[in-house]
Amino acid sequence: MAAAPKPETLAAFEAAKGFMPVREGLALYAAAAEAGALGLPLLEVGTYCGRSTILLADAAREAGTTAVTVDHHRGSEEQQPGWDHHDPDVVDPEVGRMDTLPAFRRTLFRAGLEDHVIAVVGRSGQVAKVWGTPLGLLFIDGGHTDEHAGGDYEGWAPHVADGGLLVIHDVFPDPVDEWTGQAPYRVYLRALASGAFTEVSVTDSLRVLRRTGPGI
Ligand SMILES: C[S@@+](CC[C@H](N)C(=O)[O-])C[C@H]1O[C@@H](n2cnc3c(N)ncnc32)[C@H](O)[C@@H]1O
Repeated sequence: MAAAPKPETLAAFEAAKGFMPVREGLALYAAAAEAGALGLPLLEVGTYCGRSTILLADAAREAGTTAVTVDHHRGSEEQQPGWDHHDPDVVDPEVGRMDTLPAFRRTLFRAGLEDHVIAVVGRSGQVAKVWGTPLGLLFIDGGHTDEHAGGDYEGWAPHVADGGLLVIHDVFPDPVDEWTGQAPYRVYLRALASGAFTEVSVTDSLRVLRRTGPGI
């Protein structure tokens, strides 16, 4: 049976602001719990307000490793004012830009998981360039343009350890089903075509792949 988060973790996840449905969250947790056995960090691109981070943090705690989450906290294209996914509550009134860092910190604090997460505030591509540690799990849930999702894959997937997992959110093979574009789907196809990754599971728009070969 797939590993499941503790009831209090699930409750904190459900209470947190964010974009991940419960079914996908449970699949993410199961992947993180499995990958945690490698004893390597579990890294997320796309923190937002910490909803999915809670699950990675809990799995990391159980495995005795750490979750790392990367975000510039200024929001993706579809979260900016005027777009469907904009939330005025996460705008910093002083600078007039989105800032999800305070909400993220409150989420982790309430979940009691602060000690299990390293939050990196920065642009994914810039952080990936200075990163040097193999990853047990990479979760791609950042920008949904080809430039950003493709950049996340190119910058971070090389760090996924042998046997480690690559998890991609918002994979929509059918363009009528999606609201944020098909860049994550194209990343998923690239990962499979690379020969470095093999599909493990599909849960709605969440895909879990395992590194089974060298490269990307
Ligand atoms: C879809 S949200 C993440 C949702 C989150 N995982 C959840 O469960 O609610 C995408 C996040 O990626 C961040 N983002 C987009 N492009 C980025 C980039 N190039 N570097 C860092 N963060 C980025 C945005 O600021 C936004 O918070």
